[in-house]
Amino acid sequence: MSEREKILELEKEKNAVILAHNYQRPEIQDLADFVGDSLGLSMQAARVDAEIIIFCGVDFMAESAKILNPNKRVVHPEPGAKCPMAAMCDAGGLASLKKTHPDAEVVGYVNTTAACKAQMDVCCTSSNAVKVVRSVDSEKVIFVPDENLGKYVQRFVKDKEMILWPGFCPTHDSISPEKILRLKKEHPAAAVIVHPECRPEVIDLADAVKSTEGMVKSVKSSDRQEFIIGTEKELIYRLKKESPGKVFHAVPGAVCPTMKMITVKSVLRALETLEPIVEIDSETMKRARVPLQRMMDIGRGD
Ligand code: 13P
Ligand code: SF4
Repeated sequence: MSEREKILELEKEKNAVILAHNYQRPEIQDLADFVGDSLGLSMQAARVDAEIIIFCGVDFMAESAKILNPNKRVVHPEPGAKCPMAAMCDAGGLASLKKTHPDAEVVGYVNTTAACKAQMDVCCTSSNAVKVVRSVDSEKVIFVPDENLGKYVQRFVKDKEMILWPGFCPTHDSISPEKILRLKKEHPAAAVIVHPECRPEVIDLADAVKSTEGMVKSVKSSDRQEFIIGTEKELIYRLKKESPGKVFHAVPGAVCPTMKMITVKSVLRALETLEPIVEIDSETMKRARVPLQRMMDIGRGD
């Protein structure tokens, strides 16, 4: 029996479900019951019937699945698969920033630890950051941890003061304007779609700015045939599957190394042992669930 067959058999036997982010290796995307962006994965996690969730993504995504399912067993096959941007915001630093700006509401990207989420008023993802910031009552907003996403939101929300945390995604930061300009020169017929984690100078060169799921939808509905994809390269696997016949160009070097830590072998091990599990203390989970739920009630923005 192949590893893939063993995984599918164990999944049924143990009443488990496999959720995977759009940046996972192709073979993991093919194994998963659901593949999506951060918002889609949180929404899917909230409605899972199975007793066990095998989460193929980075740490904060697996934590969100646990926070939304405190009574389920959430297994993260590679606990070392951590998002470096989420690690840039620490709960102590956020608490001091809140003290400095007691009149501000805290909007936090889901790319944060559970301890940070426990201090937020509302979470957002790349799909709905503009919609979420617009939705808060306060005229002052602390936005953590992605400065580029914060600057992107500021283009649309002019009536709020935003205090931005200086975090960034190393993968999206590696997408330079020079790389995009070179690709545009090589492929003049291609539309440029980029993720809002990209630098402002890259956003300025784009025809559209979307979450990963937003990219899948917008490519499907577009009349254009060729696209330069300004995000992690593996999204192109899904784009090709769902829009066959269209042509995609990846940005050289746009790889998220920790997303690649999860392999078929580690998923098989996770299903055999039902370890390592995601553990968060119950008080943190209770507090972190509030901003996550508020975000899901607001829904998609792209
Ligand atoms: P999406 O929510 O758009 O999938 O983005 C998640 C992420 O980590 C992007 O780097
Ligand atoms: Fe984190 Fe960037 Fe990787 Fe997304 S692509 S998981 S933000 S490091």
